[in-house]
Amino acid sequence: MTMIRTETLSPDAPGLARAAQLLAQGRLVAFPTETVYGLGADARNDRAVARIFEAKRRPRFNPLIVHLADAAAARRIAVFDDDANRLADAFWPGPLTLVLPLRPDAGISPLVTAGQATIAIRVPAHPVAQAVLRAFDGPVAAPSANPSGKISPTSAAHVLAGLDGRIAAVLDGGTCPVGVESTIIGCDAHGPVLLRPGGLPVEAIEPCLGRPIRQRGADAEITAPGQLSSHYAPEAALRLNVTAPAPGELWLGFGPDCPGAALNLSPGGDLTEAAASLFHQLRALDEMATPGQAVAVAPVPERGLGRAINDRLRRAAAPRE
Ligand code: TXA
Ligand code: MG
Repeated sequence: MTMIRTETLSPDAPGLARAAQLLAQGRLVAFPTETVYGLGADARNDRAVARIFEAKRRPRFNPLIVHLADAAAARRIAVFDDDANRLADAFWPGPLTLVLPLRPDAGISPLVTAGQATIAIRVPAHPVAQAVLRAFDGPVAAPSANPSGKISPTSAAHVLAGLDGRIAAVLDGGTCPVGVESTIIGCDAHGPVLLRPGGLPVEAIEPCLGRPIRQRGADAEITAPGQLSSHYAPEAALRLNVTAPAPGELWLGFGPDCPGAALNLSPGGDLTEAAASLFHQLRALDEMATPGQAVAVAPVPERGLGRAINDRLRRAAAPRE
C-alpha cells in the first residue's frame, strides 16, 4: 500500500470540519472515544470501509462497530427489542455496544457486517467523537485504531505509532478516559448475552435488565473475533497472576503490595484507574523490556472493570498464532 501523509487535526472547528470532509471523501480518520481511539470511515461507502481492513490488515470476516451520534440514528439502522431499548436508554451515550438485527434498508456497506444479518452499534459519549459524528452527519464504521491483533490506542501518539502513513488523519483529543474497549451485548430471541466485557461493568447492566446476563459459553461459536485468543498482544511475553516475580522479570503491579514493580496499574488498587492505565503501561513495558525479557503481571480482582482488564490480559498472554 502506498504511504500517505497523515494529518494531525485539533478538535476545534477547522479540525472537525476537515475530519468530516475527509470522511465524506471516503478517507480514514482516527478519532478519540471515551474507550479507545477508533479508525473511522463512512459506513455506507464500500471503498471507504475496505480501506479500514487494508490499513489495519484486519481479516475481512471480522465485522465493525458503527458509531452514531444518538439513539434515534441507531434505531434507523438496527431493530431494538425491549432489552435493547432499556440498555440504550440507560447507557447511551457511553461505553456500550449492542449487536442487533440489521435493518436491510439501512444502507450500510455489507463489508461492515461481514455479510451477517446483525450489526454492532454504539453511541459514544466523548465530546470529540460526538462532534465529529455530528459534523459528518452519517454512520461511521470504526474499529480500534491499531494494526490488527495489537494493543488498542488510548492516545493520538499510539495511533500514529501503528498507522502513520496509512490513514488520512488523526483527531488529537488527548488520552481516552475509560481506557478499555466498550462492553458488547448481543440481543436476540434468547435474550441478552455478554459478547465482550468492557468499559461498562456487568454489575451495572444486570440491575438494568432485572436478570443475570448470559455469558457466551467458552466453546460457543466465535461471533466476535475480539474473542479469539492472542489479541491485544505486546511484543514481550506475559505471565499473569504473579505475586512474586522471577528474577529478571519486569513486574506490572496492581495495588499497594507490589514493592519493586516496574509500573503499577493503580497503587491505590482502583480498577477505574487501572483500566485507564492498562494499554499505556503495556506499551511502556514493551519499550522497557530488553530482548527476551518477560513481563509478570500482579493479580487483578475479577469484578467491575477488572473483568475487562483480565480479559485483555489473558488475550495479551495467550500463545501467539
Ligand atoms: O470501544 C470500542 O468498542 C472501540 C471504539 C473505537 O468504539 N471499538 C472497538 O472495535 O473495539 P473493534 O473492531 O476493535 O472490536 C469490535 C468487536 C470485534 O471483536 C468484532 O468482531 C465485534 O466487535 N463485532 C462487530 N460486529 C459484530 C456482530 N455483528 N456480531 C458480533 N460481533 C461483532
Ligand atoms: Mg480492536
